[in-house]
Amino acid sequence: MFGPTTLRGVEADLAHCPDGAMALVVAAATATGRSRFTGLATLRRKETDRLAALSAELGRLGIEVEAGDDWIEVHGGHPAAGTVATYDDHRMAMSFAMLGLTTAGIRIADPTCVAKTWPGFWQALDQMVRPVATEVVAIDGPAGTGKTTVASAVAGLLGGTRLDTGAFYRSATLLAHRAGVDPGDGPGIRALLDHADLGYTDGAMRIDGEDVSAAIRSPEVNAAVSAVSAHPIVREALVRIQRRWAAGADRITVVEGRDIGTVVFPDARLKVYLDARPGVRAARRAREAGTDTAEEAGRLAARDALDSGRAASPLRPADDAWHLDTSELTVDEVVAAIVERWRASTSGQ
Ligand code: DC
Repeated sequence: MFGPTTLRGVEADLAHCPDGAMALVVAAATATGRSRFTGLATLRRKETDRLAALSAELGRLGIEVEAGDDWIEVHGGHPAAGTVATYDDHRMAMSFAMLGLTTAGIRIADPTCVAKTWPGFWQALDQMVRPVATEVVAIDGPAGTGKTTVASAVAGLLGGTRLDTGAFYRSATLLAHRAGVDPGDGPGIRALLDHADLGYTDGAMRIDGEDVSAAIRSPEVNAAVSAVSAHPIVREALVRIQRRWAAGADRITVVEGRDIGTVVFPDARLKVYLDARPGVRAARRAREAGTDTAEEAGRLAARDALDSGRAASPLRPADDAWHLDTSELTVDEVVAAIVERWRASTSGQ
């Protein structure tokens, strides 16, 4: 979804629709050429001086703007990534959210200010972008079922891309660990997430540009990630990023996690639930990590209990998921079975 728009600059008197003006002004930032909007004297006397706020925030994103008593002029271009201040004004948040659909890296400093007029705004926006994500293979299942290996191979064979959602929960845990925030403090962790930029590219997880792919696999993160991922307030923020990520992808997306088929992409074309006998999973983990099978069995059982037993988005198969027990299968066999299933689901379209 990210990319240039085909809009062209316009001149318009908006005296009769001041409430729609801000969204138009923001859209004009992505248009080709100059736009001039007039009739906007009332915007200077709303929740904030909206002409000043628009000028400051578009300016922060590198867009040239001029404003007078009742007019604003925008020189369209390519807005840069950045964090937009909202001035406690719901329309600032909503207008710049539109920019987030075409420009990567737009962050709204205080998303909760939409509650004044439309508390469900962000959910509604997510619903709008979600249909794009039907070209998704959702792979869920407990730890040690080979999800990551399988998802990578399936993505490769389908010419798609892979999203590891566990990496996002691990990143939230790393942020908490570094900031000394307790894994049980959901609001504290959410505040850290609201000020961080999480990105996932080519299998690498980044926080504010730093590659944390190795750091998120540390024993400290392993120990706390289930507690961190149990907070609905944390999940809400991460699910939103995951949906945007897939909506922005221009290829089939293979998404692995625990709640992909049930919550993140309930409309995914193919939902796979991978499982394997506990002993097999523990032995695989032990082989990978060079650890003891019995110890791994204990750790896996504890994590399974937490991931399946939590109230928010517990690990469970979606009603229409295809179950695949990998205990007796090789990786190649699992991958081939999923690819065949995907091709069958798309044949005749
Ligand atoms: O897949 P993983 O082991 O890297 O996941 C780490 C933790 O994150 C796991 O204990 C459960 C949680 N998780 C989640 O709750 N929802 C997801 N979609 C993915 C992972």
